Amino acid sequence: MKYKAIYGTHDILPDDLPKWEYVEKVIRQVMCLYNYSEIRTPIFEQTELFIRSIGEETDIVKKEMYTFLDMGKRSMTLRPEGTAPIVRSYLEHNLGEKASLVKLFYIGPMFRQERPQKGRLRQFNQYGAEAIGSLDPLIDVEIINLNLEIFKNLNLETYELHLNSIGCPACRPVHIENLVNYAKSRKNKLCRECQVRLEHNPLRMFDCKNEDCIQELKDAPVMLDVLCDDCKKYFKQVVEYLDYLKIKYLINKRLVRGLDYYTRTAFEFKSSLLGTQDTISGGGRYDLLVSDFGGKDTPAIGFAAGMERLILCLEKEGKLKAKQNELDVFVAILGEKVKQTGLKLVQELRSNGLKCDMDFLNRSLKAQMREANRQNAKKVVIIGEDEIKRNIGIVKDMEKGGQEEVGLDKIAEFLNER
Ligand code: HAM
Repeated sequence: MKYKAIYGTHDILPDDLPKWEYVEKVIRQVMCLYNYSEIRTPIFEQTELFIRSIGEETDIVKKEMYTFLDMGKRSMTLRPEGTAPIVRSYLEHNLGEKASLVKLFYIGPMFRQERPQKGRLRQFNQYGAEAIGSLDPLIDVEIINLNLEIFKNLNLETYELHLNSIGCPACRPVHIENLVNYAKSRKNKLCRECQVRLEHNPLRMFDCKNEDCIQELKDAPVMLDVLCDDCKKYFKQVVEYLDYLKIKYLINKRLVRGLDYYTRTAFEFKSSLLGTQDTISGGGRYDLLVSDFGGKDTPAIGFAAGMERLILCLEKEGKLKAKQNELDVFVAILGEKVKQTGLKLVQELRSNGLKCDMDFLNRSLKAQMREANRQNAKKVVIIGEDEIKRNIGIVKDMEKGGQEEVGLDKIAEFLNER
């Protein structure tokens, strides 16, 4: 074999596609019920957009972006996530002038040059939603509920909601100072990467999977303990609404997100079915991003989920059955002289709304019947030279057994009635 799919990318083969279509259909239905409209942005943008929003010191920007120079020597990047492009589009098209609250959703491929493993790919698919324009805990709860509703509609059972607040520019610097002071005294015991994080992006130390770092930071100060009054009040209201709706959650004081644009509410849905890459979806508030991109002060919240991870979970729970291809009719033709008749018949059947196929390989009748079986054809029409002379076709019922002779010009009508 000369060529292979690029490491960390995957083909979605025809047998698996029905699963994807089904999951996508449910996502679209739920998004529609929640009144989110679909948006599709390009899969590449100018690099600056992502550096500015995701943050220079994040893993994504530092080592995972697919960045290239176009012919005009401009730096472009395959989108590693959907939020920054949507905010760009929101501002570019003045969507905020048409509605004070803009609710958008998306489904599509994202690109991150990570070390591939189960549930971690270099090209993966996300679905997500962004609600731009409201600073009310109600919308935070709607976004969380939207996640849940999609899971429920897919009958997913194994997941856990982790919730945290990561403060705002008024209180976060206090936390960062506390954290840095705490970690500095343990610097030598931290892994090399956390030593760098300590200097450049200390919050990310909480995301380290290294056992020593987890132990060293076990009692480290957390954001939730030093929230300013506004953030504290906001978080309390989010929690109260969740309680009111009887949504179960776990307050995870160590939850930090891998992107720098977040403020206040941060959440993740994790699943024990996934192993180390255990987050199905994640999101939170990003109240400063719109103004950072040059727009008016506009609060916003959103989330994104990994389709591959969700499908993995559903498969593990046995919630996705592989759907077999089914044909309404297979037209078996025998001999050169029958080909034109076969061609005309499949065309007629298809225009009558029947899914059908015919032989294109000059196979024997036995081989054609095998093919019809393989494709789960409900009916087979057999036409040989003798049938042409008699102006009939033999219609075989593959489900109930038995066969009938039907006039060639009546076959479509006959099959439609069945
Ligand atoms: P994120 O946490 O970077 O957030 O990604 C969201 C989800 O995408 C993850 O929970 C995971 O399921 C999936 N994902 C991420 N990287 C990979 C990968 N390499 N392979 C497979 N799946 C992956 C965001 O992207 C934010 N834009 C979410 C958001 C929207 N926040 C506010 N609005």
